[in-house]
Amino acid sequence: MPSLPAAYVTTTLLDGVVNVGARPFPQDALGDDTVVIRPDYMGICRADAKEILGSRDVMEDRGPLFGHELVGTVAFAGSRTGFAEGDLVTLNPNITPSRTTGFAEYVFVHDTRERLDQAVVRVPEPHIRDGIWMPEPFACIVHALGKLLEHTRLPSLQGKSVGILGAGCAGLMFAMYARHLGASVSVFNRGEARRAFARDQGILAEGEIFALSDAEAEAHRDRYDVVIVATTVATAQLLETAAVMAADGGVLFVYGGTRKGDSFPAGRADVDTLRRQERIESVRHLGKRLRIAGAYGCFREDYEEGFRLHADHPRAFPLEKLTSRRIGLDDFPPLIMDIAAGKEDFPGKVLIKAAAQG
Ligand SMILES: NC(=O)c1ccc[n+]([C@@H]2O[C@H](COP(=O)([O-])OP(=O)(O)OC[C@H]3O[C@@H](n4cnc5c(N)ncnc54)[C@H](OP(=O)(O)O)[C@@H]3O)[C@@H](O)[C@H]2O)c1
Repeated sequence: MPSLPAAYVTTTLLDGVVNVGARPFPQDALGDDTVVIRPDYMGICRADAKEILGSRDVMEDRGPLFGHELVGTVAFAGSRTGFAEGDLVTLNPNITPSRTTGFAEYVFVHDTRERLDQAVVRVPEPHIRDGIWMPEPFACIVHALGKLLEHTRLPSLQGKSVGILGAGCAGLMFAMYARHLGASVSVFNRGEARRAFARDQGILAEGEIFALSDAEAEAHRDRYDVVIVATTVATAQLLETAAVMAADGGVLFVYGGTRKGDSFPAGRADVDTLRRQERIESVRHLGKRLRIAGAYGCFREDYEEGFRLHADHPRAFPLEKLTSRRIGLDDFPPLIMDIAAGKEDFPGKVLIKAAAQG
């Protein structure tokens, strides 16, 4: 039996309130089908704030997302899991709801060997902690653009023009990958802070980042083969902006949040279903034929492709540069409550660094 503590620190999210505290280590949870991960780094995602606000539909087959981005080490591996103590891993939250929050010193994942093989993904970068980045959000982008190519039957985005609404973490990673696939990219962001972050970090060049405004939408009317909506919520207004910017025959790609019943244009394409079931549908709108598609989640293969891209093309994928701030686990509850309440907002990715092992 590995040396596991008598107590560990974890967070709880109850009735919209986040707390951190110590609780007894559940020795009885260490079954044959259990992997326990000790995270070194955890990432804060917009979905965490949404779950605090109750503004996100939780999928029963996957469970809540609160605390799902992490890189850590296997601290315990049950005999039927296929993992070993010391494995460097990350989590795919799209596979099993049988897991505890990632905002903790230890994370417990229980399932069959087959499902654990999808849910716990080995990290092939032994030095990732020296230039930390979060594999899960990138795997979702790899998956999403793969879906886009599949839907449009294109081998790459060579020569295509891609507009991206939102220069959050998702928008910036879309820009990196679409550029790598041969597209020219234009990213539109409402606030100046994220535009400045993208420029200052060298992720986007001057001619690749614009304000997200009616004037810019008009100036870029009918311009893009693909417009990706990567904002916190894919509101009808933002989808309309995307439709203005799309060329005739272009694709509106819905990545930002949608909820059951959302449609665009009003009462026509069911954008929530298109996104969650990763389908494509044609509509006529603004005198153009538009194809509306979306993507949701990712698989182990997407993580593996993400690691390959990062290792083979480090200049195209400066994922480490997305980190804007590092905090400790004790600082997390007030910070995430402020982010959820809209009192704090940080461009890029805020990471939580676990306390050093004693
Ligand atoms: N489909 C999937 O598989 C999948 C996976 C992961 C995430 N997501 C979605 O992607 C979304 C974005 O994630 P992220 O990590 O990039 O979040 P993020 O880093 O917090 O960025 C949020 C972005 O949304 C913009 N925004 C928010 N409200 C807006 C509004 N009313 N009008 C215009 N822009 C607005 C922000 O612009 P400002 O700078 O102006 O505030 C910012 O660019 C998440 O909320 C989630 O729904 C989808």
